[in-house]
Amino acid sequence: MSEQTKDKLIIFDTTLRDGEQSPGVTLNTEEKIEIARQLSRLGVNVLEAGFPVASPGDFNAVQRIAREVGPLMEGRTGEGRVNQEMVICGLARSVQHDIQTAYDAVKEAPRHRIHVFLATSDIHLEFKLKITREQCLQRIKDMVGFARSLCADIEFSPEDAGRSDHSFLCEALATAIKAGATTLNIPDTVGYNTPSEYGALIKHLRENTEGADSVVFSTHCHNDLGLATANTLAGISNGARQVEVTINGIGERAGNTSLEEVVMNIHTHPHSYPVQHTVNTRLFFSTSRMVEDLSGMAVQANKAIVGRNAFLHESGIHQDGVLKNKQTYEIIRPEDVGVTTGNLALGKHSGRHAFKTKLEDLGYGGPALSDAQFQAAFAKFKDLADSKKAGVTDGDMHALVADVRS
Ligand code: KIV
Ligand code: ZN
Repeated sequence: MSEQTKDKLIIFDTTLRDGEQSPGVTLNTEEKIEIARQLSRLGVNVLEAGFPVASPGDFNAVQRIAREVGPLMEGRTGEGRVNQEMVICGLARSVQHDIQTAYDAVKEAPRHRIHVFLATSDIHLEFKLKITREQCLQRIKDMVGFARSLCADIEFSPEDAGRSDHSFLCEALATAIKAGATTLNIPDTVGYNTPSEYGALIKHLRENTEGADSVVFSTHCHNDLGLATANTLAGISNGARQVEVTINGIGERAGNTSLEEVVMNIHTHPHSYPVQHTVNTRLFFSTSRMVEDLSGMAVQANKAIVGRNAFLHESGIHQDGVLKNKQTYEIIRPEDVGVTTGNLALGKHSGRHAFKTKLEDLGYGGPALSDAQFQAAFAKFKDLADSKKAGVTDGDMHALVADVRS
């Protein structure tokens, strides 16, 4: 399938809203603006900048992002296309004051959206909202309708869709469409679904909701069972054309779907997903580090795509393989996601091939060491590696060379 015949996949980033709901994370306005600019450069299409009614600080941050970042057109794809202006979005409960506040915060962005949500699962209706299904439908009609009277771009989310009754969900979504919603987001709020269930849910809703053809279906998956990326990809395979994601997968509890994982799956398996996106994958590593630093949420070392170990090879067999041909143990070119540092982790599993390559990188190639000095340095390196949990550093290597040369 050529790029032209592929559907556009809308990347909706919620790092600054659902991501900021990670326990212990609070970003100040300047930090949010810095991340928003980076997300614009990255090529994100919709930026959920916050939940404006939550606090005056949140309102102010969303309003400044709408004014200062909304008009930028910085994003570029890997192929050099310019990203369209990002849509700036604000979240609102199905309450008139929330919706008005969200609109006031985003309205100065050239492209803006209000995201309205209301739970539809019986457990949320009965215990949290204490309303009946009929009252729920009426509230969707009234509040989506009110949002639409303010703004043309309206997203509706039936919270806890993953555990909602399917036929009631179809009724709720049809009500939202009639009231003016243009995007329907399907949250697996508690990360309960399996990929086959979530994919089937998207298919069912697209096929059985009145008016479904006129709207975009969106995924919003949480990672409680470690399935957020798999569920999101299943959603795409079943017709979702927007994905809600965060950088590094940060978010409530076990987090949200990670942006970089979804995009790199599409990049690695272009024939499996009939969609194209506008993200510049080469900015992944720097964006990940920025979000890690500003949010204080450390990225686990073995996290796919952006973890510190994601492109590091430690065992002698793997190191020997990648030195001969990188594709022996690499399915993604590190430079495609912005990783430019070396890919060999020197430790007790490393062999002579990796040791020699590292020496060459450090300027001790060719005649710098005699054969006997090289053998002595390698033996000392093995002893040292056995005793160092964190691996052998460049400083250690310089000391080893000095030692065998003295
Ligand atoms: O997980 C969820 O249900 C949400 C909604 C507010 C979209 O974040
Ligand atoms: Zn969420």
